[in-house]
This record gives sequence, structure tokens and C-alpha cells, in this order.
Amino acid sequence: MKGILLAGGAGTRLYPITIPISKQIIPVYDKPMIYYPLSTLIASGINEILVITTPKDLPLFKSLLLDGKQWGCSISYATQNQPKGIAEAFLIAQDFIGKDNVSLILGDNIFYFPSLSSIVIPSIKSIGASIFAYHVSDPSRYGVVEFNEQNKIMSIEEKPEKPKSNYAIPGFYFFDNNVVNYVKQLKPSPRGELEITDLIKKYHEQNLLNVIQMNKGTAWLDTGTVSSLMEASQFVQVLENRQGLKVGCVEEQAYCKKYINDSQLKKLAKPYNNGYGQYLISLLND
Ligand code: DAU
Repeated sequence: MKGILLAGGAGTRLYPITIPISKQIIPVYDKPMIYYPLSTLIASGINEILVITTPKDLPLFKSLLLDGKQWGCSISYATQNQPKGIAEAFLIAQDFIGKDNVSLILGDNIFYFPSLSSIVIPSIKSIGASIFAYHVSDPSRYGVVEFNEQNKIMSIEEKPEKPKSNYAIPGFYFFDNNVVNYVKQLKPSPRGELEITDLIKKYHEQNLLNVIQMNKGTAWLDTGTVSSLMEASQFVQVLENRQGLKVGCVEEQAYCKKYINDSQLKKLAKPYNNGYGQYLISLLND
């Protein structure tokens, strides 16, 4: 399975912070925002990753993530000239996807998902699409999935004014290799975007959609507004200080997956003159 990390968009909801800098580079507590979705992909066992961003922000991402070899991964880059929709990522990534299945994660989606690699990923089907559902208090800001009492999917809607359920669809999706063909059948929505929910609906129409409910021990954090961004930082701070463990630590996930060995981890920690570096060294002794 290959991975796409979508980190474009205009970021206008966080202006003036994001006038000179991409939203996905700004810090969430002790690391750049993009570390969180990147570490989620790596924890999922995905180490061939395409980062899609704007032409303006591309040099920033390259200087931060390099070619991924330092983490035992391959990171390549592509650009999206205009924010014409999340589903457009699959058209941009067509050559990268080739004959493989693909996961897409949004660069501003932060997950705390301890059961991801041991329970969830092994249950992802290789045919069709798999998405998550997460109970939220304000579903109208998201894609929303409605179930009946037998857990059958009844509807999928993008930012409905009157949501039919409280289950939002987080920005982390798994698709089989038909995804590019399905995206080619999509028409832009009234807001001019190729909508990810329209793509998900195509799979649902074919009875090929699997929805996984994120359980209570997990968290999906929002970074869409300055308040939610601050809350996300606070959540990470509280969890990290309390547990002495890190959330969204790319180096740790690469080490856990054995993409890098002890000496590579030591080398990564060396330039860090802070607690982050000490944490990386502490992983060697665990
Ligand atoms: O966060 C999950 C939600 O993400 C889903 O529940 C929705 O179904 C989905 O449409 C999306 O909603 P948002 O309103 O949060 O999407 P937004 O336009 O803020 O974009 C999310 C991320 O994707 C953000 O990091 C920017 C990036 N993006 C977005 C678009 C539309 C791109 O890189 N290119 C794009 O064309």
C-alpha cells in the first residue's frame, strides 16, 4: 500500500498565521503539524509516500522531510496548483499509485490511535474502500456518515446543514486501485471541488465501502480554527507530559517498524539539543 499526504490548500481560516507559511508546517505543541499524519502513515506500515502541496510551499516541505531515507522511507513530491478538491490528489498521484492500493491522509488531521497498527490496519480490506467514523459534537463541519441500527450505511454527506448523525468522516482513507477510475467519473461540486465524499459514495454505490468506527480510546483532533489548533497542542502536551511518551513522533514510528536501526536513530537524535532528542535516545533503551 502506498500513501498520499495531502498538504496543500490555502489555509485562510488560520490567517494571518498562514499568510507566509503553510498550515501543515506550523507547530502542534512540539513538532510541525505534518509530523502527525506522516507518523500515522508510517505506523500503518506505509513507507512509500507522496506529499502533495502547493508550488509555493514545496521547498519548505522538502527542507523538512527530505527524501525520507533518514526514516527508512521514500518521500516524493507533487504539486496541486489550485485547491480543486481532496479527490484531485488521486489524479495528481496517478503515476505514483501505479498498480497499488493507496491510503490518503490530510496534512492537518491529527490522530491518537494506539490500536492502529495492531488491530485496525490488519482489518483493512484490499478490495473496495475503508474509511473511519468518529463521534463528534459538531458534525456539520465535516463529511458525515449515517448508519441504521444494523450498522448499515444509510447516507454520506459533505458538511450537511442538518446532519443525520454525529459520525464525522476523518481525513484518513484507504482505497483499492480503482480509485483513479472513480475520480475520473466525478464532477466538481457547487463549490468547485472534487469532493472526497462523492468518491466515497461511488464505492458505497458498488457495495464496496467499509466503515470502521474509531473506538473510545482514540482521538481525532481538529486543527481547522485557531481555538481547535490550540486545543490540539494542549491535548498533545498533556498526554506527552503525563505518559512520558510522544504522539506523532516520526522517528519513533520508523524505529518501531524497523525502517531504521539503533545507529540511525542515534544519528537522528544527535543534532537535537532538547527533550525531543533525549526521547529518541530513550527509545534505544526500551
Ligand atoms: O478533516 C476531515 C474533513 O476534511 C472531512 O470530514 C471532509 O469530508 C473533507 O471534505 C475535509 O473537509 P475540510 O473542510 O476540513 O477540508 P479542507 O478544505 O479544510 O482541507 C483539508 C486538508 O486538505 C487541508 O490540509 C488542506 C488540504 N487540501 C484541501 C483541498 C480542498 C488540499 O491540499 N487541496 C485541496 O484542494
